[in-house]
Amino acid sequence: MTPFTRREILRSGIVASASSLLPGTALSGIAQALAEETHVPAADGLASIAPREHLLFDFDWRFFQGNAADPARDLGFGKDQGDFSKSGEFAFATAKFDDSKWRSLNLPHDWAVELPFVHADALQSHGYKPLGRSYPETSVGWYRRTFEIGKEDLGRRITIEFDGVFRSTLVFLNGYFIGRNDNGYAPFRFDVTDFVNYGGKNYLVVRVDASFGDGWFYEGAGIYRHVWLLKTDALHLGRWESYVRPELKGDAATLSLGTIVQNRGKEATNCRVRWQILDATGKSVASAESAPQDLGKDSSAAVMASARLVRPLLWSPEEPNLYTAMVSVESRGKRVDAEKVTFGVRSLNFDADKGFFLNGKPVKIKGTCNHHDHAGVGAAFPDRLQYYRVGVLKEMGSNAVRTSHNMPTPEWVEACDRMGMMMLCETRQMSSNNEGMAQLEAMIKRYRNSPSIIMWSMGNEEWTMMPQPQGVRVIDSMIARAHELDPTRLCTAAVNEDFETRFPEQLDVMGYNYNLKVIDKWHRDHPKTPGVGTETASTVSTRGIYITDSLRNWVSSYDANHPPWAELAEDWWKFYGAREWLAGGFAWTGFDYRGEPTPYGWPSINSQFGIVDMCGFPKDNFFYYKAWWGSEPMLHLFPHWNWEQREGEPISVWVHSNLDEVELFLNGQSQGKKKVQPLTHLEWKVKYEPGVLEARGSKNGVVVLTEKRETTGAPEAIKLTADRNEIDANGEDVAILRVEALDKAGRHVPTADSMIKFRISGEGNLLGVGNGDPNCQESDKEAKRSLFSGLAQVIVQANQMPGEITVEAYTEDWPPPKLAPATVVITTKKVTLRPAVG
Ligand code: GAL
Repeated sequence: MTPFTRREILRSGIVASASSLLPGTALSGIAQALAEETHVPAADGLASIAPREHLLFDFDWRFFQGNAADPARDLGFGKDQGDFSKSGEFAFATAKFDDSKWRSLNLPHDWAVELPFVHADALQSHGYKPLGRSYPETSVGWYRRTFEIGKEDLGRRITIEFDGVFRSTLVFLNGYFIGRNDNGYAPFRFDVTDFVNYGGKNYLVVRVDASFGDGWFYEGAGIYRHVWLLKTDALHLGRWESYVRPELKGDAATLSLGTIVQNRGKEATNCRVRWQILDATGKSVASAESAPQDLGKDSSAAVMASARLVRPLLWSPEEPNLYTAMVSVESRGKRVDAEKVTFGVRSLNFDADKGFFLNGKPVKIKGTCNHHDHAGVGAAFPDRLQYYRVGVLKEMGSNAVRTSHNMPTPEWVEACDRMGMMMLCETRQMSSNNEGMAQLEAMIKRYRNSPSIIMWSMGNEEWTMMPQPQGVRVIDSMIARAHELDPTRLCTAAVNEDFETRFPEQLDVMGYNYNLKVIDKWHRDHPKTPGVGTETASTVSTRGIYITDSLRNWVSSYDANHPPWAELAEDWWKFYGAREWLAGGFAWTGFDYRGEPTPYGWPSINSQFGIVDMCGFPKDNFFYYKAWWGSEPMLHLFPHWNWEQREGEPISVWVHSNLDEVELFLNGQSQGKKKVQPLTHLEWKVKYEPGVLEARGSKNGVVVLTEKRETTGAPEAIKLTADRNEIDANGEDVAILRVEALDKAGRHVPTADSMIKFRISGEGNLLGVGNGDPNCQESDKEAKRSLFSGLAQVIVQANQMPGEITVEAYTEDWPPPKLAPATVVITTKKVTLRPAVG
């Protein structure tokens, strides 16, 4: 939809209703089996091996909130026009500057999530956080870090790498200006070899200005991804230049291997590159080496080789088999640099008539689009959270994500590689200008070895460019460059409205956003172009709520509401599911996200498009997808059965199930048996009386699953459940705790809304809290949170001291009810820390 149309809709609070709604409330009985025991790897996908040092640069920073308008409150920066007249007069990045009053923190850090909400129309799409030209006092952040570099490093190349900073970044070292970066999502790096103080202290300062956004959704503010310090020999592998391209033929794969060797040494030399391919157990399964090659001083050389893998274990969502290539460069018989490249072997094919094939087998893409923020942490994810979120989506039967609308963080890609989740990887700026091409190149070089990525997306809904001749030229240039960098993957873009222009005809695979009515015709007119639903659904719902109420900004959880441009879950999936030629699609969105508070606007601060809420707690549509995307028998009954003072009123009761037949009972009395029609739900109207609502689902005439909703008593006690009771004592790992209230009989109370307080002690800290309520403006960072529809979430992070973290949850005497407290103890175990800057 056009931004204008959407804004109008948000203001007026229009919601299209596809079925008649009955008042209702909360959802109960949420699957706790969302915690995936996948171990977060100890280093990034292009990890280093000696003699290279790739050091995490996240710990022990100092932070200061500057000011975008007033130099006096911005370290004097910009006081006159001479700041950049010399390359080195920045005192704040020298020994004489005192940062002792600055706040200490570890990265990743997002200061936007710490800010209060501010009601202003201009802030709506980013979630009402005071960032932008009108909020100079909260839009600039300064980060400072003192570190040492030994004398022995003289002669090596020293690089500082940022995986992503939001947004305009200036970097200073030892008083010198180092460089700038002006987008919020692509990684950037500076070779600081010439500026380092060898054998002494170094002062690194990063000024981050989030006055401008890159998107129309919550984007965070600050150094919200990892920072690294990379030390290599003067003769080294080019960063993100190594690739492994497997091509499957019969039962063997040919690996095309390539890299670039750079010589920044003072002399000409020679070099040889070796590749050793290891399977998941670490066994060497293939190898290759280049011929020795001369390399002049200050020059670089592309090096290529090939290897063969016999009967490789293929990568797929069900079996995400991975291999590692150890790439090393030798000079005069000595290894001087090396890195690990993780890759997988699989084949991809998009067919215009038959859809998508993975490893030669037809696979429907059952995908979700996602932004990159979560309850409690905003955009600054601990790595583990990526695994948690991929686990939630896998639990639903989903096999793919789209990284809307920007290059993802490396750990999200890694989680998909390791857990088996396909990815449509999208760049932020659809343009062939310098910035757009640089973003595209960074994305492809950074991630081209990841087996999870099945296609590149060049952009999303560029309304003004797509219908113009410029749009055609731009997309052609982008696709040509993408193919050059990665000949193994096709390209798409997410098209909306401009279907009848020449723009979509340039795409390898057509990407349809919404508009079910145009899809068949476009395909008829372009029968040779494969198609995928780059964006569908935008169904809106509030978790655990069964009434649509514009005064309370609630949208009922039945699959019944969407804005005018969008579709119900059942509608889009029936459409895509019925068309073999469509590769499948990506629902907007898997998780709720901050910003775009559709359909109502203030006081809502996040979207309601998610199939799960901001914490990852499922809404009822989760179970529609689980029934029709998953492979297990499924039965889900809703709403909850706490309808005090509604005795005798008809309540709409729904079941999502993939069984043959479901019979519904209220207090033992049958309410009728219904046959399940594929890809739809079942619905009864039941006169409310307290007690037990029960669904019995049968397959081939035998009851195989039952689900109950019981009228509960008042909340009496708190229950705390951690996703894992043992985490790593590495200063990074987190436990994600579910908080709920139980009645006297120990039943989850789906309507509980008590304010729960938390006390965290021992070897860890509170990282953040949330409850999935799109209208809750409580702080993400304070040690308290009200339950919403019976649930809240607490995220605690381990420090580096092995021991225990004790999380206590309790209520105060006021407001009632006073609940029995709960305690969970999480063990933090000693692990090898990943190499980090001291
Ligand atoms: C789409 C857009 C998304 C999001 C969505 C909301 O048109 O691509 O970013 O705004 O609408 O329905």
